[in-house]
Amino acid sequence: MTAADRTLSWNRAMLASPGDLDLQVPNAEIEGVIPPELYAGRLLSNGPGWTQIGGRTVHPFDGHGYLRAFSFSEKGVALKARFVRTASYEIEAAAGSVKVRGLATDLPGGMLPNLRAKGGRRNVANTTVLQWQERLLVGWEGGSPHALDPQSLETLGPETFKGLVDGEASLAHMRLDPSSGHLVLVGMSQSRKTTVRFRELDSEDHVVFSRQDELPEMIFAHDFAMTPLHYILGGNPMRLNLGKLAKSFAGLGPFFDAINIDHSKPGVLYLSPRDPKAALRVVSLPGPATVIHFGNAHCTETATIVDACLFGRFDFGGEFGYRGPDQELDPSLPDARPPQRLFRITIPHDSDQATWRQLGPYAVDFPRFNPAHEGQRTPWLFGAARRDTQHGDPFDSVLSVDLRSQETVTQIWTAPEQVFVGEPVFVPGASPETGHLLVMLSDAMNEQSRLAIFDAARVEAGPIAQVPLPLLPVAFHGDWASS
Ligand SMILES: [Fe+2]
Repeated sequence: MTAADRTLSWNRAMLASPGDLDLQVPNAEIEGVIPPELYAGRLLSNGPGWTQIGGRTVHPFDGHGYLRAFSFSEKGVALKARFVRTASYEIEAAAGSVKVRGLATDLPGGMLPNLRAKGGRRNVANTTVLQWQERLLVGWEGGSPHALDPQSLETLGPETFKGLVDGEASLAHMRLDPSSGHLVLVGMSQSRKTTVRFRELDSEDHVVFSRQDELPEMIFAHDFAMTPLHYILGGNPMRLNLGKLAKSFAGLGPFFDAINIDHSKPGVLYLSPRDPKAALRVVSLPGPATVIHFGNAHCTETATIVDACLFGRFDFGGEFGYRGPDQELDPSLPDARPPQRLFRITIPHDSDQATWRQLGPYAVDFPRFNPAHEGQRTPWLFGAARRDTQHGDPFDSVLSVDLRSQETVTQIWTAPEQVFVGEPVFVPGASPETGHLLVMLSDAMNEQSRLAIFDAARVEAGPIAQVPLPLLPVAFHGDWASS
């Protein structure tokens, strides 16, 4: 594939905007056979579905949330897709242009329009999705999640959990504790230091546990992990460019331009005990590390084990090849930084000095596992990967790592040329070591997406079924919701 073809394919895949959809793919059009185990639930997927707005390309982080729900039956596969109708979406849908400033997106026209911008803080609810009992939640970095009607996907509005998180910046990633069914939310507020709040909610929105920690510096966090003993955050110290920050306040640049990771500081994990009387632990990593996504974590008799995708050096800017509102996305931009690698981190219970080992040679992100094993030992970890071991996203492969072995045993399947690979969502099978992976493939040169279904134990064998779909925009995160 030429670089020009790759750029064209990536732009089509990222900027696709088919709008609301209700369609059925009959079995006759499906390659292979849908496993009947999938009839018992549905795949939910969220990501930016309207990124080219009024002739301007916003940063994909600021594209409007677009929720897709795939359900499976003897008849085939049904897809329902709806925009998340946030306040920002409604304003911009009415105007047909960018009207709300975003984390990484300014309005056209310089200082005055940006200072007068409508809508307050842009919350486009485009990052995560989680079905929690009867509720369907879509998450966003820096604001409340939104609630959707689980059946119609109609937007119900910001979910504040009865006022608990109203106006509070929260991590886009939420997790469920499978042992209790509780939802775990992480809220943050920052100045020179970071105040982080962990809350566990029951289905009535009662806070059954909460904990607040003061971290010694300003950090960037997007995801967290947990064990029965701890919540775990990446240290990711932030450095502010005060000149660019002043420009942003003056309406002359997005806030995103003013932040970066402080590379002068060592890699750290914060372990916040789930025992309210125990003190925060600050764990030193063997080298510099920025954590965007965690896999799973668990405890042994002697240590806490954490699997995470680590960047040795992470600089903000150029995500998804974004270069600005008037330029096409350049998928080679992420190649300029060292890619994210999957590591297993071991933290002895009696020491705050961790060790680590890299799990395989590939760049890996979007780590997933059996959600029933959250916080416990799990046999497999899955992720999106790149066959070319020197580079990371955009990804072209599905990877599995067998965690039962002391050796690193991986299986990798690489999509055909020009096809991009999304996050692999795990669907639990009948026994703890079986299941399926659901992976969205973007075949934009053929104006098509495909939902690929893998036997999770045999990733290398390739998809056992593929469902042809209209070209859907590249999603960020998904979830399997059992019915
Ligand atoms: Fe994420």
